Amino acid sequence: MLELHDVTAGYGDTVVLRGVTLEVPDSTVVALLGPNGAGKTTLLRTASGLIRPMGGRIVLAGEDVTGRKAYHMARRGLCHLPEGRGIFPSLSVRDNLVLESPKGREGESIAQAVEAFPVLGTRLRQMAGSLSGGEQQMLALVRGFVTNPKLVVVDEASLGLAPLVVDQIFETLRRIVATGAALLLVEQYVNRALDLADHVYLMNRGQIVFSGPSDQLRGEEVFERYLGIEVGAGG
Ligand SMILES: Nc1ncnc2c1ncn2[C@@H]1O[C@H](COP(=O)(O)OP(=O)(O)OP(=O)(O)O)[C@@H](O)[C@H]1O
Ligand SMILES: [Mg+2]
Repeated sequence: MLELHDVTAGYGDTVVLRGVTLEVPDSTVVALLGPNGAGKTTLLRTASGLIRPMGGRIVLAGEDVTGRKAYHMARRGLCHLPEGRGIFPSLSVRDNLVLESPKGREGESIAQAVEAFPVLGTRLRQMAGSLSGGEQQMLALVRGFVTNPKLVVVDEASLGLAPLVVDQIFETLRRIVATGAALLLVEQYVNRALDLADHVYLMNRGQIVFSGPSDQLRGEEVFERYLGIEVGAGG
């Protein structure tokens, strides 16, 4: 579904990604893990066309999309759920849903959202910015359904949320996977990410330092060896 070949990218003269090669097969969950500043967000933004790569090649759904813009990637079936949620805080919940909905299917999209998160049904007229953090993340995740994506790229969906809400977020990610979409997931909750993922990449200082099936990573030693981080923390 998605392939990055030897991709280099960064900001201005600053190189962050240094020759990253990574693959997300169709209908597969891939977790991308690593310490703060490793370049995970930069990788997701590059894959989504928000950052233009300096070198390398990106293939999406069989098409070479290197250098293409984000809207092109979206048309090819990629849905990017950014760090910090990416909702419109000064619009109502309803208007946020309408904006994300395919044309002519607004009613259906709202119904889908309410089915996934009943609490949103009681908040349709409320400004999105006045929702709780968890409710805002639910609203953001709804995009992962209603746009019918083939690949969902999720950056720290559980950031700053209470454990019960994090459970709901992961439940929603599972439902997105159940639609047949592939998922590329950046998560701070390492063990939960491993539960969901088929394959894992570990990243450090802009490079992939480990790649393997997620069950290989149950031995936490791998994390310590490659990243110097402790798993366990934060579940
Ligand atoms: N807009 C920007 N301009 C310049 N440098 C940036 C910019 N955004 C990120 N960086 C730098 O790129 C490097 C990688 O950042 P990135 O956000 O990709 O890391 P990350 O792995 O997502 O970290 P975190 O776990 O903290 O979210 C960092 O050194 C960061 O300071
Ligand atoms: Mg990040």
